[in-house]
Amino acid sequence: MKKSKKIYLETYGCQMNFSDSEIVASILTHEGYDYTSDLATADIIFINTCSIRENAEERVRKRLQYFKSLKKKNPGLMIGLLGCMADRTKTALVEEEHLLDMIVGPDSYRHLPLLLEQVGTGRRAIDTILSADETYADITPVRLDTNGVSAFISIMRGCENYCTYCVVPSTRGQERSRDAGSIVSETRDLFNRGYREVTLLGQNVNSYHWVSPEGIIDFSRLLENVAGVNPLMRIRFATSHPKDIPDRLLYTIAKYDNICKSIHLPVQSGSDHMLTLMNRKYTREQYMERVGAIRRIIPDCAISTDIITGFCRETEEDHQHTISLMDWASYDFAFMFKYSERPQTLAAETLKDSVPEEIKERRLKEIIDLQQKLSFESNKHDLGKIFSILIEGESKRSKAHYFGRNTQNKVVIFPKTEAGPGDYITTKIIRFTSATLIAEVVTP
Ligand code: SAH
Ligand code: SF4
Ligand code: F3S
Repeated sequence: MKKSKKIYLETYGCQMNFSDSEIVASILTHEGYDYTSDLATADIIFINTCSIRENAEERVRKRLQYFKSLKKKNPGLMIGLLGCMADRTKTALVEEEHLLDMIVGPDSYRHLPLLLEQVGTGRRAIDTILSADETYADITPVRLDTNGVSAFISIMRGCENYCTYCVVPSTRGQERSRDAGSIVSETRDLFNRGYREVTLLGQNVNSYHWVSPEGIIDFSRLLENVAGVNPLMRIRFATSHPKDIPDRLLYTIAKYDNICKSIHLPVQSGSDHMLTLMNRKYTREQYMERVGAIRRIIPDCAISTDIITGFCRETEEDHQHTISLMDWASYDFAFMFKYSERPQTLAAETLKDSVPEEIKERRLKEIIDLQQKLSFESNKHDLGKIFSILIEGESKRSKAHYFGRNTQNKVVIFPKTEAGPGDYITTKIIRFTSATLIAEVVTP
């Protein structure tokens, strides 16, 4: 296939998928393909997909219908599906819709150049085999849609926790950690190119494990090594699994100013009955004990969470347990979802999706309303406080303002000064909403 063709890449799903798209862009631009952010000029369209909930797949299907209409007008256009929907949907999408030229799973991106050659000779290409050791450690991602200040670094792939509702272990395969040295050098390279914040990504970063010639590097050690690159480089990470967030890790976070004081600790439910059915491997009490440890060891740490409402057999009492836990934890932020049954999960195979849709919706609304109040309270607490903000760019609402984040990951808006994106600035919070803090600039 002739190189210098233009590739358009659209990404859905989690941060890890966005990070994967940067690896895809890197692999293909190295092979002489051009990357374009303009769909109209593309020769090849890739859609990097997510399966986590039914509505995530729905969005992709709708988008594919649109791409189909483009292909009608331009039969030479190639369309490829990447990512988490690849394995499950390969037969249906290729056989029934005759739309896709390529289907490539998350561990096969190195094969993309060869697969494109194959498609160029008129044959469809499917490669969805998952790997036990692929981490793309040696590939320097091409940063897409970047603000030049913050970047994602994948430190692990896959997941073996097998939460019963979750499709990730089947779409992403075995858990594996990436070479620690390559993570530190990628951070250093980003710093030298002006970046000031990296987010280390994995489905469960706490279980990071790398055997180096100097010994075992666990997540605490990795954090220290990355934090040591430069004190001006901020480090974030996601996601931490509540089953294994040891004190040692919390002390490491407390010790370094540039490790951000913000922990995403998905609880999923406040009911032990649900936690057992979900196979989360902790109880409500154990979760509360860990939140207590965070508050004790890192007093100014923000805590955010994920919650699934309406999981199989969830009673009104279970739901009330979630509400009381949210209240107790006073989360600063939460992602909240209605349970969506996913094929090839243990829940789909062994439990009935028993909570009626209208009850799921009502419960979801109750927890969203509660979280709105908690976020408002959390922001109210910040009134008058002084924060160091890493400036990310111009505020979307006003050309006269910048926005950035404090260490707790809260968005702060303030009037522009001579400092700019990538600089740190000291601000004082003067107003707030449940979503944003508004500040004035102060001289430290
Ligand atoms: N590895 C992370 C989360 C990955 S998926 C962790 O363990 O916390 C992100 C979130 O999607 C999950 O925390 C969960 O709240 C939600 N989720 C996963 N599967 C879901 C499903 N089948 N229905 C609804 N929400 C789901
Ligand atoms: Fe899914 Fe659980 Fe793994 Fe998170 S830890 S990705 S929820 S199986
Ligand atoms: Fe979705 Fe796959 Fe991420 S299912 S949430 S894109 S790991």
